[in-house]
Amino acid sequence: WVDISDDDDKEKRNGVKRKYSSSHNRHDRSQNGQNGHKHKKRRHSSHCSDSPHLNGVSDEAGPSRQSIPHTNGMNSGSISAKAKVIQEQRRRLPIAQGRDALIDEIRSHDVTVLLGETGSGKTTQVPQYILESGIARNGMIAVTQPRRVAATSLAQRVALEQSVPVGSLVGYAVRFDEKHSSKTRIKYLTDGMIVRELMSDPLLSNYSVVIVDEAHERTLRTDLLIANLKSIQKQRNPSPNDKGKGKADSSNPLKIVIMSATLDAEKFSKFYHNAKIIYVKGRQYPVKIYHSAESQLDYADAAMRTFFQIHTDQPPGDVLIFLPGQEDIEGLQKSIQLFANQLPVDTPAVLTCTMFAAQDNSQNSKAFNQTPPNTRKCILATNIAETSITIPGIKYVIDSGKCKEKQYLARSAGGGFDTLLTRDITKSSAMQRTGRAGREGMGVCFRLYTEEAYSNMAVSGDPEILRCSLTSSILNLKFASALKTLWLLGAIDNNQQLTPAGRKMALFPLEPQYACTVVASKAFACTSEILDIVSILSASSKLFLDITEQREAVAEARRKFRHPSGDHCTILNAVKAYREITASSNKHGRREWCRKHFLNERTFLEARDIREQLVVTCGRVGIDATVSAKENEDAIVKSMGHGLAGNSAFLQADGTYKQTMGQTIIKVHPGSTLCDKKHPAIIYDELVYTNQIYARGVSAIPKGFFLSLSAFKQRKA
Ligand code: CDP
Ligand code: MG
Repeated sequence: WVDISDDDDKEKRNGVKRKYSSSHNRHDRSQNGQNGHKHKKRRHSSHCSDSPHLNGVSDEAGPSRQSIPHTNGMNSGSISAKAKVIQEQRRRLPIAQGRDALIDEIRSHDVTVLLGETGSGKTTQVPQYILESGIARNGMIAVTQPRRVAATSLAQRVALEQSVPVGSLVGYAVRFDEKHSSKTRIKYLTDGMIVRELMSDPLLSNYSVVIVDEAHERTLRTDLLIANLKSIQKQRNPSPNDKGKGKADSSNPLKIVIMSATLDAEKFSKFYHNAKIIYVKGRQYPVKIYHSAESQLDYADAAMRTFFQIHTDQPPGDVLIFLPGQEDIEGLQKSIQLFANQLPVDTPAVLTCTMFAAQDNSQNSKAFNQTPPNTRKCILATNIAETSITIPGIKYVIDSGKCKEKQYLARSAGGGFDTLLTRDITKSSAMQRTGRAGREGMGVCFRLYTEEAYSNMAVSGDPEILRCSLTSSILNLKFASALKTLWLLGAIDNNQQLTPAGRKMALFPLEPQYACTVVASKAFACTSEILDIVSILSASSKLFLDITEQREAVAEARRKFRHPSGDHCTILNAVKAYREITASSNKHGRREWCRKHFLNERTFLEARDIREQLVVTCGRVGIDATVSAKENEDAIVKSMGHGLAGNSAFLQADGTYKQTMGQTIIKVHPGSTLCDKKHPAIIYDELVYTNQIYARGVSAIPKGFFLSLSAFKQRKA
């Protein structure tokens, strides 16, 4: 490891070892010297001097210590010991000191930009301060989040702080899962959900305050929201010139608070006519940073070795490991548990927790539980733990330097597609990750990349979509192809106006293709089956597990569900089989059955919740969700075909498929039921791009079907 910190004194006080070398590595499995961490020591920047500079930020929240009043209506006599601890925690958060100053600013400005380091209390406290101040008397307080995990877990935390059940005073809304009521005053919701609400309520009239959180992430939806809010505010808030002219509806003005964890907030301020920027001072202890001396080919392996070095050599404190995605996390968790079981008995225990978007809430929230005595907690997380969520107790951070990012590949002429790519993080992410180690005391961060790699990282700051003209033109392309997709689905007409069918589709919390499929299923009298299939396809993880080492066994197990028409009816067969098992066995039996058939039970469970939601929406738009196709798979495939008309391909003379809407040559994915069967025409759920372009989720469809689609006729003409 290369040590780049320079503060001997702090280090002595902290008792952290200066050198961190592979000679301490009892778990070094590497034979080839790939992990040759050198004991090189260099003196330069510590994390503190590495921290972003605070110049240019206008105001610091008032330094006077303000105490937080007890929460609404809570009788202090009945406050349990736990609630007292929570209120004490609230009072100690850095933001609590500037509470009154902050409320004054928000009260006197339409737009406020609030900057503060992660963990200072922005997301959990600001909505409560606003609620307690009475600023939001006429409506709800919305707090938007780019990630659903953050939205639900923050609502839980704030409900706890208010001593109320989630869904009452404090609620949330994320895709496929909503908990709020007429009592709700603070609502955490994903940026996607609020953009959806905009469709039915263009002025967001239910809200008095919209807090746009994690604005620094500059997700497409957050950016769209920020743009929309500006025009909404113009319509809802009277400007000084409009007074008395009745131009704007002054009875229900809108306040906007933009919150960000990084310092490049000038842009937000400029966008809103130089809105005031307020800075909350965070609590950040020094963090000693070690870079790896050589680049690591296998970051998961390097992370494991580093973890056990910490575990055996370093003082107590929990470890947070940043990894790009779920697969890495689950794989490494297994390896760590396996090794931990082999440690000598006198070594403290290891408790692993995982945190990623696709994991259910109760699993994710385990990371917040207090670490048992004589145990070291090891949390494996994606970049969700970078700024959205703060986990207490972390003293060590291991940073793989990688993250997963959705990217739009505009490669194919018929419209591109999204794919998840693992890529290097930015400097700003690296700094955020490092900072996680210094929330409660001095910490240590092990970066599994060289110092040179760090210096070559992009600085970030700007959103990726705006960083260069190439990306912004890709964005245009994305919009153009989005419009084309909606037109193909019959959701918009030639003048880009929403059609009656489009209006129905918009109510379904689904990808437009599948919303279209559900709407179409009414005419084909197969809604029940379509809901089965679409809810599986909308779950966050795939149903069919692929285990490379057991390819034969997997294929054998899958044969049982195989349907000659393709993957959609194959999914349906699996759902039906699972339903039978559910009726006849207990939890253990179900789990065993899923394991034996290489099926992901979590997907079934998630799909069941999604299906329930879709049934409710069907009821709202007059579709009877109980109508079943019985054995008529032709109807099922054709309903799917309505949604997937844009994802279709015809067989060519040479045996390959060519997109009907583009020129791209595609192959059927080896995991598909139709992998070695040729059909004149196919539809597919998605394209995946590896060394080839593969269609996944494929069904055969009569070629003549396409002639029945009017959009198809127009397009071909
Ligand atoms: O938004 P910001 O990063 O400024 O902070 P926050 O999310 O409001 O978190 C403030 C504090 O609440 C953190 O120090 C967390 O430890 C704590 N918290 C918690 O204990 N459990 C949660 N589910 C969320 C936050
Ligand atoms: Mg936050």
